[in-house]
Amino acid sequence: MTDARALAARLINHVLLEHRSLSQALAESRAEDGDAPARASAANLAYGVLRRAGSLRYYLSRLTDRPLRPPELLGTLLTGLHELELGETPAYAVVHATVELAARRQPAARGFANAVLRNFQRRREELAAEAERVPEARWNFPAWWLRRLRQEYPEAWESIVRAQNTPPCMSLRVNRRRASPEERLAALDAAGIAARRTGPWALTLERPLPVAELPGFAAGLLSVQDVGAQWAAPLLDARDGLRVLDACAAPGGKTGHLLELADLDLLALDNDATRLRRVRENLDRLGLAASLQVADAGEPAAWWDGRPFDRILLDAPCTASGVARRHPDGKWLKRAEDMQQLAQEQARLLEALWPLLKPGGTMLYATCSLFRAENQEPMTAFAARHADARLDLPELPGARAGQLLPGPDTDGFFYARLHKT
Ligand SMILES: C[S@@+](CC[C@H](N)C(=O)[O-])C[C@H]1O[C@@H](n2cnc3c(N)ncnc32)[C@H](O)[C@@H]1O
Repeated sequence: MTDARALAARLINHVLLEHRSLSQALAESRAEDGDAPARASAANLAYGVLRRAGSLRYYLSRLTDRPLRPPELLGTLLTGLHELELGETPAYAVVHATVELAARRQPAARGFANAVLRNFQRRREELAAEAERVPEARWNFPAWWLRRLRQEYPEAWESIVRAQNTPPCMSLRVNRRRASPEERLAALDAAGIAARRTGPWALTLERPLPVAELPGFAAGLLSVQDVGAQWAAPLLDARDGLRVLDACAAPGGKTGHLLELADLDLLALDNDATRLRRVRENLDRLGLAASLQVADAGEPAAWWDGRPFDRILLDAPCTASGVARRHPDGKWLKRAEDMQQLAQEQARLLEALWPLLKPGGTMLYATCSLFRAENQEPMTAFAARHADARLDLPELPGARAGQLLPGPDTDGFFYARLHKT
């Protein structure tokens, strides 16, 4: 467990002090950071701390009266406070381990770490009551994010925030070419894994599991994909023989689904070569084929062969505000100012790709965001600028005007179709 705590602290510092993503930090963690179970516990602790970083940082600010020296004590102390809050490990063991870790970093920090945790134990109720009055501490989201949610969802913001503060569920997509949902549900049941049907191809597990434990995963019968993300492929309505562009494809969740539903001539682009390799791995596992290219989708002159597409999927880079429960680091990494830059990038991609679509063709614009500035607003503006674009905001189960809100079985997504007249 000591290895796990040390690694968790490092992962947390990586996000909160160095402003880098948790998935990147996890990908960089290696065997010398501990064995597989230790790394899994570390990831679990880091996700837990980042989900509750608003309140944990608030507690820490009330328990200390000077900046942390060295600042890297942050990860260790937040992990200790989180473990005390969870109450799964005896408090004396948490305090002892946290103090030892702090001392490893800075011998003089031993007494300080001990005082912080002991004071938290004593003042816990009082601090929790105080935290209720500070929005960031109460809801575990940055203040700018909460203001925006409240403004855009005056009725639903609280249930959105609550849904996003719970650990995510794990959903699977059945590969229609190799299996049926009923048959896979029976196979999971036979393996003692509880699951239920949550969409046309979707099964949701009662408890998340490593993919290696899922019968049929290695053989390409299943993929891991959120139920809400499974709406993209059917909405694009890609039928056999069509030429399709998946402009921002990695890691290939939607690419795989499109190819499971129809025989397509599909080009998948991503500007990140490492991420694009994961598309190849996923398609190989599923027994599917597509052309893959590392390219900036916004610069077609560099990669387009001049043959127009019947369908284009633009799963645009966004704030990822709809998937905060799966990627809780994102809420502390994104800033309000990022929205403007992302909106410019989304508009650049839309403008560059529209001429590549055949008349009569459809572009599906998708984000995993809840914010209007990267969803309805760019779509309405685009349709107003282009006389040959007809905007269609699909009604989906649990969604309004293309906007799917986070709930127990789904993350938040936005879908809009642009038909070329
Ligand atoms: C939301 S993710 C796509 C998820 C993917 N469609 C799926 O379902 O698995 C956005 C992707 O866009 C890629 N990206 C960002 N800007 C891009 C650009 N200008 N050209 C191509 N890809 C880009 C990112 O590397 C990232 O992999």
